[in-house]
Amino acid sequence: MERERVTVDSSMAARARLAVLTAHISPSCEESVYFPPIVEKSSVSSDFAVQPPGNLKGTLTIVDERTGKRYQVQVSEEGTVKASDFKKITTGKNDKGLKIYDPGYLNTAPVWSTICYIDGDEGILRYRGYPIEELAESSSFLEVAYLLMHGNLPSESQLADWEFAISQHSAVPQGILDIIQSMPHDAHPMGVLVSAMSALSVFHPDANPAPRGQDLYKSKPVRDKQIACILGKAPTIAAAAYLRMAGRPPKWDLSIDGGHLGNRSYKPNPQLARVIDILFILHAEHEMNCSTAAARHLASSGVDVYTALAGAVGALYGPLHGGANEAVLKMLNEIGTVENIPEFLESIKNRKRKMSGFGHRVYKNYDPRARVIKKLTEEVFSIVGRDPLIEVAVALENAALSDEYFVKRKLYPNVDFYSGLIFRAMGFPTEFFPVLVAIPRMAGYLSHWRESLDEPDAKIMRPQQAYTGVGLRHYMPVRERMAHSAGDKLGQVSVSNATRRRLAGSGV
Ligand SMILES: CC(C)(COP(=O)(O)OP(=O)(O)OC[C@H]1O[C@@H](n2cnc3c(N)ncnc32)[C@H](O)[C@@H]1OP(=O)(O)O)[C@@H](O)C(=O)NCCC(=O)NCCS
Repeated sequence: MERERVTVDSSMAARARLAVLTAHISPSCEESVYFPPIVEKSSVSSDFAVQPPGNLKGTLTIVDERTGKRYQVQVSEEGTVKASDFKKITTGKNDKGLKIYDPGYLNTAPVWSTICYIDGDEGILRYRGYPIEELAESSSFLEVAYLLMHGNLPSESQLADWEFAISQHSAVPQGILDIIQSMPHDAHPMGVLVSAMSALSVFHPDANPAPRGQDLYKSKPVRDKQIACILGKAPTIAAAAYLRMAGRPPKWDLSIDGGHLGNRSYKPNPQLARVIDILFILHAEHEMNCSTAAARHLASSGVDVYTALAGAVGALYGPLHGGANEAVLKMLNEIGTVENIPEFLESIKNRKRKMSGFGHRVYKNYDPRARVIKKLTEEVFSIVGRDPLIEVAVALENAALSDEYFVKRKLYPNVDFYSGLIFRAMGFPTEFFPVLVAIPRMAGYLSHWRESLDEPDAKIMRPQQAYTGVGLRHYMPVRERMAHSAGDKLGQVSVSNATRRRLAGSGV
């Protein structure tokens, strides 16, 4: 009983500290204030009755019309076939068997997972079975992170322990802050985050299977510690990257109770804080997207979790993925006014460019996250004032949704279409938007990492290729060779600035 009280007291203190530390990034820890639900289930929910399709087990018979041979392939309950079963379908001696050609992994499932369910045709997203709308309405980001990691929502004491553990790992080594400080003042914050995540690997040799042995992550305490560490440190690193952008030293006085951009009296607006928390919930996980697949790919080699997540954040950085919210804002700014929309749409249809924040590999319906976020924009604008670009965004959406090009291809707004407007309204610089996706997505990456460690079928990820190059040729000395084509010629490469400085004698 006494122990429980101490845990709860220290947990509350730690939570308060975390709230100050991460106030402008994830200020969701204010608990005493009641907010009417921002997201109303009835107005946003997709069809909750839709269930995964039951047992699909059976046998597939394949007739190879090249040879007349018949093959039987097992279909699993989940409706999967083993790609390696197709290897036995061969025409003869030099034919190594069929391979599945799947650029972009349009229809390839390299893992079993129980974390996230998406029905892209119906516009349904569930974390561990819970509809995303219900979580957005009622849960908090840290609670959702627990759910993703452990499979069930936490009890009160489990949640308190979880939040306490994460708060205990929010400090970042000074060396990481020094690395951030040494970067150019205009360094893109996602580049900063990738570098800092990668550098954390060096600062945690005790968590690295390379020196410590491949069985290291079999230990639950070791795993749990890295999870708390990354969830705790990501907002601090993001804040340091933010300060770097603002030209201020990324420094934190953790010995007192944390410094919030040098202003300890800062208190976030509780409603805006709740909006950020909802956005974090919506961005926390999205099954085998490009960056989560990258995390699992890297982790499959046994590399340490920091390096695996640095790779994932690198994938997230791209404008087709987590960088899309930044690209949307640039696009809306470029369009400028509603009158320019028809001309802009023509440029899309003429394939001069793609429309950022539209289309999705999985959703062929309205992205359920975009539906919630669109509603949140109004909530935010009622507090901070209306962003005129929202008129352009809404008109662009309407024009696209009634245009045959978009209708035919089932292109709808995705999660990034409206989120940038919220981030901008809150005062975040455009370049910082993808960081605000990366912080919550750490929960998704980590839950996949954790799941992969226990996956009985897990193997190092090593896709095949379909080789289309030259069959065989033999080496010739350089003097006997002819230049092949202009394509082989190195383009104009200008001298690097560092070399210029060296040649000028001013050092590097
Ligand atoms: C997300 C995305 C990369 C998915 O790509 P994908 O699954 O490989 O889809 P495809 O590129 O094969 O698109 C299918 C068709 O729709 C078109 N299309 C897809 N997204 C489009 C977009 N945003 N604008 C215009 N056309 C688009 C493609 O040109 C293609 O047309 P085609 O069949 O006539 O060649 C793609 O929709 C995109 O680039 N969107 C914009 C970036 C973005 O918002 N990313 C964030 C995703 S959450």
